[in-house]
Amino acid sequence: MKKQSGVYWVILLCLLFTETVFTSSQRNVLLLLADDGGFEIGAYQNKICQTPNIDALARRGVIFNNAFTSVSSCSPSRAALLTGMPSHQNGMYGLHHGIHHFNSFDNVTSLPTLLRRHDVFTGIIGKKHVGPASVFRFDFERTEETLPINQVGRNITFIKQLTKEFLAEANKQQKAFFLLVAFHDPHRCGHHEPQFGPFCERFGSGEDGMGLIPDWKPWYYQWDEVQLPYNVQDTEAARRDIAAQYTTISRLDQGVGLVLKELETAGHSGDTLVMYTSDNGIPFPGGRTTAYEAGLRVPLLAALPGARAGAASAAMASLLDLLPTVRHWLLHQPPPPPPPSSDRPKSLLPILYKEPPALESDAVFASQAHHEVTMYYPMRAVRTRRYKLIHNINFGMPFPIDQDLYVSPTFQDILNRTRARQPLPWYKTLKQYYYRPQWELYDIRRDPAETNNLHGKPSLAATEAELAARLRGWLRDTHDPWRCAPAAVLAADGQCAPLHAGL
Ligand SMILES: *[C@@H]1O[C@H](CO)[C@@H](O)[C@H](O)[C@H]1NC(C)=O
Ligand SMILES: *[C@@H]1O[C@H](CO)[C@@H](O)[C@H](O)[C@H]1NC(C)=O
Ligand SMILES: *[C@@H]1O[C@H](CO)[C@@H](O)[C@H](O)[C@H]1NC(C)=O
Repeated sequence: MKKQSGVYWVILLCLLFTETVFTSSQRNVLLLLADDGGFEIGAYQNKICQTPNIDALARRGVIFNNAFTSVSSCSPSRAALLTGMPSHQNGMYGLHHGIHHFNSFDNVTSLPTLLRRHDVFTGIIGKKHVGPASVFRFDFERTEETLPINQVGRNITFIKQLTKEFLAEANKQQKAFFLLVAFHDPHRCGHHEPQFGPFCERFGSGEDGMGLIPDWKPWYYQWDEVQLPYNVQDTEAARRDIAAQYTTISRLDQGVGLVLKELETAGHSGDTLVMYTSDNGIPFPGGRTTAYEAGLRVPLLAALPGARAGAASAAMASLLDLLPTVRHWLLHQPPPPPPPSSDRPKSLLPILYKEPPALESDAVFASQAHHEVTMYYPMRAVRTRRYKLIHNINFGMPFPIDQDLYVSPTFQDILNRTRARQPLPWYKTLKQYYYRPQWELYDIRRDPAETNNLHGKPSLAATEAELAARLRGWLRDTHDPWRCAPAAVLAADGQCAPLHAGL
């Protein structure tokens, strides 16, 4: 008996040893993506909206305070994230679904394709919203393409079950994995499903006719207590809209908690790079679909066992950097060191270990063409630590408003007050919002709300010229077909041929 148990111990130790060797050399990635999620997060100093699960993730990793999407629109942002290329380069100019029907070019290599070639098990749960399928193919797909979007994107009990299924399969195949959990929360839904409230905050709440999400404990907020973002007017209608958004965020946050719990149960909390971010800014005026701060800035958390924990980073990060970061971590492939002053995407992995020096010249870039198919409003922007230069290519037309935002209580309130000439405690007038000059230059450090356009100011002439040249360089390097617009035509020889349009 005694002897036998000794043998068992040896076998057990061997098993443990191989298990340790196996797991410590395995590397995985879990990317948690919010849909139009902003900074309604405790870790980002929101004192009212409760996000204990996202906050706990932040304590385990690095909080990026200067993270930006390269395009403030759903499908374009996801395609940019998954290809490492801006929308004008990957071809995904607008929304993928329905009548909008945008797709990226057929010849683009996406992250899941790259990883599958290296035998990584890839999965997506939730909102996919990119195409064509041949470019964005994952081994495991549970998305709106085959299941109801609210189930895969908002029902956190269902998302938990799908995550369990994916992780069991990855373990069975003994492969490194990349899992994208793309929540549909906290996206608006007033346009399609007003019965659930402006943010679908009642879907699955257990109230009469709303169904039940067993794992969700909804949190409700007082409209007069919400923390108002700078770009939203201070009125009861807008505040009630934000209170609804907060309730939906309680579902997203608890969903993040459930997915992380599944990761732990599957034995992978010690070998997985976990990131949390959002495709673009909040769906309020001045946010999503704009090149303003509330449109481009996104939360970004990255937790890696053995790296910095509970640290804040001031590094300028772009969602274009996520592809090189994932490649660096999963495939042990650091990107080639960029030439000095290169504006190419970079791996964020070194930043998880050590804070890089903050240079005034650090920059991120943005490029947008459409959101909905009717919303053609091409913009290009460069954002350094201090300044932002925006080029509104079709500045002659009013800024387009998406259907979703249009019916929202916040925008209706702006329309009603403007029409009735009632006081509108907002940072802009509707007219200023619609009609934008060709160039906008902001000193973000002094003017974070971007209300004082410094374009053409003589004392900043050199700064502006430098920013414009840098933007032109980035557009040239990324083959932007719009790079000569609107004053010139891109000729066959790659030069800009003037239109003599007086611009
Ligand atoms: C991919 O296709 C686009 C559009 O047809 C083209 O402009 C681009 O040069 C192609 N890229 C490569 C690498 O072949
Ligand atoms: C959410 O998913 C669970 C598990 O599939 C299901 O039992 C529940 O009815 C769903 N809730 C809603 C509101 O659809
Ligand atoms: C705006 O006005 C319309 C028409 O008068 C009204 O039905 C709606 O409730 C108002 N909405 C807000 C948010 O003020």
